[in-house]
Amino acid sequence: MLLNLTKKTDPIWKYTFKPVPVIDEKVKKMVADMQETLTFTGGVGLAAPQIGEKLRLFIVDYGALKETFINPKMIKRVKETDEGEEGCLSIPGYRGILDRATEIVLEYTDIRGKTKLATLSGFYARIVQHEYDHLSSTFYVDHIADKKENLLAFEPVRLVFFGTPEFAATILRSLIGQSTVGEYEIPLVVTAPPKLAGRKQEERVTPVEELAKQFNIALEKPSWLVKKDSSGKRIVNEEIVAKIKAAKPQVIVVASYGKILPKEILDIPVSGSLNVHGSVLPKYRGASPIQAAIAAGDLYTGVSIMKMNEKMDEGPVIISAKQRINKDDTFETLSAKLAVTGSNLINHVIHLWVNKKIKAKAQKHEQATYTKILKKEDGYVDFGNPPKNLSNLIRAYHPWPGVWTIYRIKNEELRVKLLPKQTVQVEGKKPIALKEFKSGHPDFTLTW
Ligand code: NI
Repeated sequence: MLLNLTKKTDPIWKYTFKPVPVIDEKVKKMVADMQETLTFTGGVGLAAPQIGEKLRLFIVDYGALKETFINPKMIKRVKETDEGEEGCLSIPGYRGILDRATEIVLEYTDIRGKTKLATLSGFYARIVQHEYDHLSSTFYVDHIADKKENLLAFEPVRLVFFGTPEFAATILRSLIGQSTVGEYEIPLVVTAPPKLAGRKQEERVTPVEELAKQFNIALEKPSWLVKKDSSGKRIVNEEIVAKIKAAKPQVIVVASYGKILPKEILDIPVSGSLNVHGSVLPKYRGASPIQAAIAAGDLYTGVSIMKMNEKMDEGPVIISAKQRINKDDTFETLSAKLAVTGSNLINHVIHLWVNKKIKAKAQKHEQATYTKILKKEDGYVDFGNPPKNLSNLIRAYHPWPGVWTIYRIKNEELRVKLLPKQTVQVEGKKPIALKEFKSGHPDFTLTW
C-alpha cells in the first residue's frame, strides 16, 4: 500500500519518537508499505515519521544497501567530512549541498530482530546520517549555513506522457511517483483506445489507461493522430493537438505508444519530445526491438532515450544503458527489466534536458537495423521446416503472439503451441512437458 508522506511543516516533527517495542506483523507490514512507497517515489531512504509514525525506524534502499534500521544508535562518526548533494522526500522542490562524516558506525536491530553493527562509508554513510537525523526531527537543510549559496530550489517539469502497454505503464508509474515529491507535473496522459479481446470480445483498456485512472490524471485515447482524407490530403487530429497545447508541457515523454507522432505534436513543447526505446540505438529501430534482440540470440540489449523527430527512431540519443539477456528471458521478463532501466534513465535525464545540462548525439545511421510491427501470424512455424532460432523465437514471442505449428496425426490436424522451458500445449488442453508429449507422439520431431 502506498503511504502519504509528511512534509517538513507537519506537526509530527514536534514529537519525540519512541523505540519500536516489538517487531510484530504490524511493524513488518509498515516496513513493506514504506518500501513500496520509497520505490514509488524514487528515493533512497525513508524514516517512520515521514509516513506519520512516531517510531525510531528507517529504511534505506540504495545499490547494495537494502536494509531496515530499527532503534538505531550512532556509535561513531569520523571527523573527516565530504561535500555532497541531498534532497528529502519531506522537502519537495529543493536540493542542497552539505558536509557529512565520511564514515560512521551504527548499531541497530534488523527486521528479523537481530542486533547488528554496521560500518558504512561514502554515499551509504550519507544516506544513513540523513535518515538518522529524521529520528530527532532534523533535516538536511538544518546543516546548511549559507542557504543562498547551497540550497537550490527547482520547479517541477510539466510533461505529457504517451504510452500504451505494460512497458509504458512501468515508466509512467515511476514518473507519477516522482511527481508526488515535486519532480514533475503530469497534466495529461495519452494512450491507445481499448481493444476488443478474448472470446467474448470485451473491451480491454490499456495498462497506461488503468494507471492514469488510478491516479486521477486527465486521459486522451485518440483513434488517430494523422491521416489522409479521401483526396489524399494529409490531415492532423486538431482536437488532440489543441488538448496537448492546452496542457502546456515543457516536454513530451513517449514510451511504446504504438503510433507515429506528427511534427505538429512533437514540436509543441519547448524542449521537444523524448522517447524511451527498448534497444541500444541505432540497433533495432522500430516496433519490436525487445523481441528482435531475444530472437537474434543477443547477449545484451538495452534502453535508449532519444530526442524524437518525424522519422522513426532516427533522432539523436541523449543516453543509453545496456541490459543483459538471460538464457530464460522471454519478452515478458526482459521487457519488465528494460522498463525499470528505462524509468531510471528518463528520470535521470528529464530535468537535465529541460535545463539544457545534457546534450543529444546523432546516431550512426549507417549502423541502423530495423524491426517490424509483429502480427499474430508471425508466430506460425512450419512443422517440416522450423527456423534455426526456434528456441529464441519461442522466448521472444512469449506471451504474444506466441509460437505454434500445425502437427498432422493420422487424419487430424493439431494446433500445437510451443512454449518456453520445453513445454507444449495442444489447443484446448493444458500445457505439458515436451518430453511427455513426444513419448506419446514419436513423430513429433520439433525440439528447442
Ligand atoms: Ni529526508
